Amino acid sequence: MLKTLKSAATALVLSTGAALAAGGAGHVHDVDFSFEGPFGTYDQNQLQRGLQVYTEICSACHGMKFLPYRALGYEGGPEFPEDQVIAYAAQHEVFDPELDDYREAKPTDHFGVSNDPNAPDLTLMAKARSGFHGPLGTGISQLFNGIGGPEYIVSILTGYTGKEMEQAGTVFYENTAFPGGWIAMAPPLYGDDVEFADGHSADLHHVAEDVAAFLMWSAEPKMMARKQAGFTAVIILTVLTVMLYLTNKRLWAPVKRAAKEQAKGGTPAE
Ligand code: HEC
Repeated sequence: MLKTLKSAATALVLSTGAALAAGGAGHVHDVDFSFEGPFGTYDQNQLQRGLQVYTEICSACHGMKFLPYRALGYEGGPEFPEDQVIAYAAQHEVFDPELDDYREAKPTDHFGVSNDPNAPDLTLMAKARSGFHGPLGTGISQLFNGIGGPEYIVSILTGYTGKEMEQAGTVFYENTAFPGGWIAMAPPLYGDDVEFADGHSADLHHVAEDVAAFLMWSAEPKMMARKQAGFTAVIILTVLTVMLYLTNKRLWAPVKRAAKEQAKGGTPAE
């Protein structure tokens, strides 16, 4: 009986392992982002650089239709001043059904939809993908490394091997991070694709990390407020616990004293 169980368990482990290997999950490397961990916060300058990368490169194909322009001024985000948010929105056009025409975008309008119908919307991409699945597909490493969405994006952007192949009229590019190994997105970044006003390095890895951080923020713009609320809750609960403990001690003190005296005095219970 035990033997059957054992071999069944072994078979299960082996088959999940094989299934995962066959799925060809890509390789994702860890990145130390500023927003990780219970006290991590977004790096405002990094988000501003990420927006620039998105605007100058990714938005040629991808949209971010769930993000309103005004979010660029939110606390905890890129925190652009209001006039810059208005100016940024005004560089884009939206179709206004009331005018039945295009007009300049306002901060209340959303970023555009994808220009390339095959390019997925990027607003929530950082939370729609996970980078870490191991060991053996259990996902336990996510407890230590996080889900790995932004790391997945960095790994995709830096994971091109340079090989291409054409299949049914579509060109695929070999990519070590993309599940299956071949992606239909041409390498969007080569390094020095943008020039940052703050003089920050624009080599391939930096640019990839900046845009991934920006996409993490677009997927979870209220992360910092959420962490802060959680931290306040932990403090309040700690204070409450200490108070309850002391109250409990005090309430039961006379009863305990009486019991002790009774034990010492030796008045036997009737
Ligand atoms: C020339 C058009 C083009 C540009 C520019 C471009 N992409 Fe893509 N991207 C695509 C297409 C097409 C796909 C779908 C590929 C597929 O499914 O094989 C894609 C897919 C993706 C994916 C999804 C991979 C997945 O798991 O489904 C991510 C993430 C991504 N792009 C990020 C970016 C970022 C970040 C930039 C800017 C640095 C960028 N892309 C620039 C065309 C583009």
